[in-house]
Amino acid sequence: MKKVKFALIGCGRISSNHFDAIQKIENAEMISCADIIEKKAREASEKYQIKSYYKNYKKMLDNEKPDAVLICTPSGMHPLMGIEAAKRKINVITEKPMSIDLHSADKLVKTCDENEVELFVVKQNRLNPSIQLLKKAIDKGRFGRLFSANATVRWTRPQSYYDMSKWRGTWEFDGGAFLNQASHYFDLIQWLMGPVESVMAFTATLNHEIETEDQGAGIIHFRNGAIGVVEVSMNTFPKNYEGSITIMGENGTVKIGGVAVNAIDHWEFKDYDDDDKLIESSSTNPTNIYGFGHLGYLKNVVDALCGKTDALTDGRAGRKSLELIIAMYESAKTGKKIALPLKY
Ligand SMILES: NC(=O)c1ccc[n+]([C@@H]2O[C@H](COP(=O)([O-])OP(=O)(O)OC[C@H]3O[C@@H](n4cnc5c(N)ncnc54)[C@H](O)[C@@H]3O)[C@@H](O)[C@H]2O)c1
Repeated sequence: MKKVKFALIGCGRISSNHFDAIQKIENAEMISCADIIEKKAREASEKYQIKSYYKNYKKMLDNEKPDAVLICTPSGMHPLMGIEAAKRKINVITEKPMSIDLHSADKLVKTCDENEVELFVVKQNRLNPSIQLLKKAIDKGRFGRLFSANATVRWTRPQSYYDMSKWRGTWEFDGGAFLNQASHYFDLIQWLMGPVESVMAFTATLNHEIETEDQGAGIIHFRNGAIGVVEVSMNTFPKNYEGSITIMGENGTVKIGGVAVNAIDHWEFKDYDDDDKLIESSSTNPTNIYGFGHLGYLKNVVDALCGKTDALTDGRAGRKSLELIIAMYESAKTGKKIALPLKY
């Protein structure tokens, strides 16, 4: 069986989830890695027995000609690196968020289209068994009319986390708690509830020396009439406390909680369904805050590249949650209600 050849750019914290996952996928192989700090690329290549490593990612793309590249660099760099890969006819998998602005995100989508390569945006939390069960319940219509959705991210990040790398907490490369830490939650709320009509938000920088926000709250008016609330904090005392989604409808109430939307805290519907037997087995408690979803996510990437299935989250799906977050920022900045779709 032909193996899908991957290369990775950015051998930092999240890269190990990718290296570990690719090793576990039978028809996938990591052939090279790159980092601007050469030592990091060398250490990754030694640890994961990768044949080559580079300091300059463009040289890696030119020399190694991988089938697909995994982009694990600071968020503001994702579009440019993705465009460089797409122009070389290399498929692109970018870590979340795909970009920190819509204009660059659109350029990336367009360049991938023009060069007929696939674009995937990593949204591994959609694969949490608890979230999958909730999505199924919504799709089956078990809630009846949807009334409200709540996403809560009550985590903590010490100043040392932001000081670890210069890109963290900057508008140019990162964004704030909405765009970085809570981006999966914005993705889940719009994926589960459907299209957004308008938003309003407040953000604040309360407890860190950073440019971007460490605290915020947003309200979402969905096109189906439901109202959503998103509360995000990086200032929770004394540690990460909650990462949850609650959906309420005419005939059901579900809360997926734990520290990172893994545990089923509440599951109640008017009518019985055989899926109710799966509550216990779908409730998990991963030791790693990023969860174990990268393996499932990258398996989908490999299957999609082999023509066996569609992408779980392609560039256009990734853009939707980015648009929602950018709209929140626009509201926080202007003090106004912002209608979607955004114009720029
Ligand atoms: N899916 C998830 O749950 C999840 C979790 C954590 C991080 N992320 C995302 O992954 C990305 C990276 O986050 P991280 O925590 O691993 O950051 P990190 O700072 O630990 O790693 C980034 C790496 O990119 C390298 N780099 C920077 N510029 C480069 C360049 N020009 N060429 C090559 N390498 C370069 C850095 O040297 C560093 O090693 C971010 O976009 C973040 O939002 C996603």
